Amino acid sequence: MRVIRVATEADMGKEGAAIIADGMRMKPHFVLGLATGSTPVPVYKELIRLHKEEGLDFSTTLTFNLDGSIGLPPTHEQSYRCFMNTELFDSVNINKANTHVPDGLAEDIEGHCLTYEMMIEDVGGIDCQVLGIGRNGHIAFNEPGSSLASRTRALDLTQDTIDANSRFFDSIDEVPKRAITMGIGTILEAGSLLLFATGASKATAVKAALEGPVSVSCPASALQLHPDVTCIITEDAASGLTLNFRS
Ligand code: F6R
Repeated sequence: MRVIRVATEADMGKEGAAIIADGMRMKPHFVLGLATGSTPVPVYKELIRLHKEEGLDFSTTLTFNLDGSIGLPPTHEQSYRCFMNTELFDSVNINKANTHVPDGLAEDIEGHCLTYEMMIEDVGGIDCQVLGIGRNGHIAFNEPGSSLASRTRALDLTQDTIDANSRFFDSIDEVPKRAITMGIGTILEAGSLLLFATGASKATAVKAALEGPVSVSCPASALQLHPDVTCIITEDAASGLTLNFRS
């Protein structure tokens, strides 16, 4: 595992976007796995800058998002589709037909999860998967207790996650209670993983993920099983680390 410690979120964005851009330049039809949430936003900002100022080309890039809420239409401003359009897709020359976000309105949710996995397989797998980490060590919507072999599936959100998401909605009744998420097993099949973490509130989870035992109690600890992981972490989020990692 490689750990890059950075001073600011902007530095994290630059380091992360540079790795992604290198991959995109080397491989046409690069398959990029994406995350929502606040952590990767500086990475997406820098990718937009690289597109606008240095001509980084997204025209043949394919993307697959980690997760999506069940019940929200893609036009809802809190939907992950809307988030991706706003934070990245609308500002680069990506073909939206090549971008995939789990469809929370699919009639057959189970069938959709299977199809999502097959679509990833059909394009040769994800080359690089962007990940954030929850304060409890979750990755995507894989909460503690999720099998490390889990695949893309629908699940009930924990009350904690529902409460955390309620800040984006007018009332708790509007907050989605179910979601679709790639599984930990799905995530581990990506060619490379890029984990981002910022803020002191993530320090305990980062330490457990990188230095703790590989365990379902910290889903992100499964990253230790992957041969190509780069973690880009601001100093406050990395403050609990005691081991020396490659940088
Ligand atoms: C979202 C996702 C989540 C977030 C995590 C951290 O697609 O995969 O696991 O990465 O909840 O969220 P933020 O970045 O908002 O702290």
